Amino acid sequence: MKEKILVTGGTGYIGSHTTVELQNAGYEVVIIDNLSNSNESVIDGIEAISGIRPVFVKGDCTDINTLRKLFEDNPGIKGIINFAASKAVGESVQKPLLYYRNNLNTLINLLELMPEFGVKGIVFSSSCTVYGEPDQNPIDETAPIKPATSPYGNTKQISEEIIEDYVKSGAPIKSILLRYFNPIGAHPSALIGELPLGVPQNLVPYLTQTAAGIRKELTVFGDDYNTPDGSCIRDYIDVVDLAKAHVIAMKRMLENNDTDSVEIFNLGTGNGLSVLQLINAFEEATGVPVPHKIGERRAGDIEKIWADPKKANEVLGWKAQADIKDTMANAWKWQCHVTEKK
Ligand code: WQD
Repeated sequence: MKEKILVTGGTGYIGSHTTVELQNAGYEVVIIDNLSNSNESVIDGIEAISGIRPVFVKGDCTDINTLRKLFEDNPGIKGIINFAASKAVGESVQKPLLYYRNNLNTLINLLELMPEFGVKGIVFSSSCTVYGEPDQNPIDETAPIKPATSPYGNTKQISEEIIEDYVKSGAPIKSILLRYFNPIGAHPSALIGELPLGVPQNLVPYLTQTAAGIRKELTVFGDDYNTPDGSCIRDYIDVVDLAKAHVIAMKRMLENNDTDSVEIFNLGTGNGLSVLQLINAFEEATGVPVPHKIGERRAGDIEKIWADPKKANEVLGWKAQADIKDTMANAWKWQCHVTEKK
């Protein structure tokens, strides 16, 4: 009997890749998504890759009645992976209430319904943004949580606290908090990938759209930072590596009875790459030039952050595998696929 998992936000970038890996690992997946930042055609891509079509419910997780009906219609859900959230840092500064309402009400609704329907555990999509500007790198899970620099980042910090408090109150559930560094790339099949709506805020989709001629030029937001080449450093993690970590976390949560009720893991490669190094990796991997210029720093950017993934490597038995050039080649393949479809 296949364990049934609910993936909220499952037609999104990381949610879709995680659904593929869950299905490849033998889990049955139910997706709920309101399609506010994704497209139902992603379900076709998931099916084309894994040969299995997940159950799809179009709905808004901020409505508890929608969620309750989903659990009633899909009995036997044992675990949840919660991706459903608004995630644009800049937008969150303009529309804080949308972010607090969407991201926090979604989580609270899920937590409230879990005991009612016998759901054992929830994997939460958190972010290295909770660390703010680290005092030192690489950064592990014991690093201090810094005051959030955006409502988006604050929703991640508050969400972690809500889960901790709920478990401490005696709720019969477990949780694993996964703090992602910078997810990039696309499935090697080029059948699913990142689908940013409008002008991409994140580096890699903007970079691939520039390489494809959709954007005229990539602006590197500052080259006067205290880093070897002056541009910011991040820990770019391949989205398929990231998806696989969720499957391992879910298995651990559902099958391993002697773990803590709440566990936290940093998911990164452990290597920091600058913006200019990433552009170079793309050009070397694809042979496609990326027209770019140096511009002003972007408000709110931190200078450098990369993970110490030791805990995830040793406790989860998970390690990022992808070579950055392969990740860049997959990102480009996906961009070409999307551009052709237009
Ligand atoms: C990476 C680097 C930019 C665009 C954010 C969130 C994080 C996570 C991922 C949601 C930075 C530089 C970017 C461009 C550039 N959340 N850059 N030109 O800001 O590290 O992380 O997105 O998904 O929680 O905080 O990612 O991709 O926006 O930027 O030079 O056109 O690329 O300055 O140094 P970031 P990013």
